[in-house]
Amino acid sequence: MEYVELNTGTKMPILGFGVYQIPKEQTKECVLNAIKVGYRLIDTAQSYFNESEVGEAIAECNVPREELFITTKVWIDHYGYDKCRASIMKSLEKLKTDYLDLVLLHQPFGDYYEAYRALEDLYHEGKIKAIGVSNFYPDRLTDICLFGRKVIPAVNQVEVNPMNQQTEAQKNMQKYGVQMEAWAPFGEGKNGMFTNDTLQKIGEKYHKSVAQVILRWLIERKIVVVCKSTHLERMEENFNVFDFSLSKEDMDEIAKLDIKDSLFFNHQDPSIVEWFDKLIEERKKEE
Ligand SMILES: NC(=O)c1ccc[n+]([C@@H]2O[C@H](COP(=O)([O-])OP(=O)(O)OC[C@H]3O[C@@H](n4cnc5c(N)ncnc54)[C@H](OP(=O)(O)O)[C@@H]3O)[C@@H](O)[C@H]2O)c1
Repeated sequence: MEYVELNTGTKMPILGFGVYQIPKEQTKECVLNAIKVGYRLIDTAQSYFNESEVGEAIAECNVPREELFITTKVWIDHYGYDKCRASIMKSLEKLKTDYLDLVLLHQPFGDYYEAYRALEDLYHEGKIKAIGVSNFYPDRLTDICLFGRKVIPAVNQVEVNPMNQQTEAQKNMQKYGVQMEAWAPFGEGKNGMFTNDTLQKIGEKYHKSVAQVILRWLIERKIVVVCKSTHLERMEENFNVFDFSLSKEDMDEIAKLDIKDSLFFNHQDPSIVEWFDKLIEERKKEE
């Protein structure tokens, strides 16, 4: 495993396992399998509704807690100082741990300033080893770095994949010392990601799959990446990316695939902001 060093001085594994859309009843087994394969970074969120099952796996995996790197994300409905703090206490309980390695604000909507202040205090109290944000586009990230509070986010987790490469966003993060972390590295298979010609041809050269080429491409760019699979053989495949590297020509070819747009949605589109507002009500019912 390779690591990056965050602006807190903490080490973070460059490759991790994400549990978004893994049903509760499968989560514990998937996380236990991922840890057996070698993943040490586990990425969950309050709004994935599977923190308790991740916690069961953490408790049963027989890997010392300090070897694991556990991330959760605070949901929008839990923003504001007191609500954010209380929600993290609940997350700690569900995850069966007395500290978290990284806590991110999940979305750039609502009272994220006060939520960030709660993260800062928990960071100073040692309950959270690093704090950060997610889906903060360059303008929002710059805002929180300049006008936010005293602790610069350690991480910004955003969509990054060969179709949405986020090179300008990465430069902006580097300017402020914020580590970029990629979600949906495979774009969940959208836009023919797994059958893309360029990625397949590069893979053939190294006897690697498209998924492995994508993960290696992110690692070459020093981007932390979390990927998800419920299949053990794919967890292994996705982990097996540390024995090859891509040439400059390969990187240049992949650069051409960039459509500079999300495969999912644009957080700056007002209709998407409205959609998130509705999502808050829907997710309340699941809590
Ligand atoms: N911060 C955010 O807003 C945000 C948003 C989305 C995701 N995330 C995080 O990022 C993680 C990864 O993103 P994601 O789950 O959305 O998408 P992803 O990792 O790009 O794609 C997951 C999909 O790819 C399939 N897959 C995985 N490995 C494969 C392989 N080697 N060959 C073929 N298919 C493969 C999986 O199927 P199977 O499961 O059937 O194998 C699943 O359908 C999430 O789990 C979550 O932790 C964060």
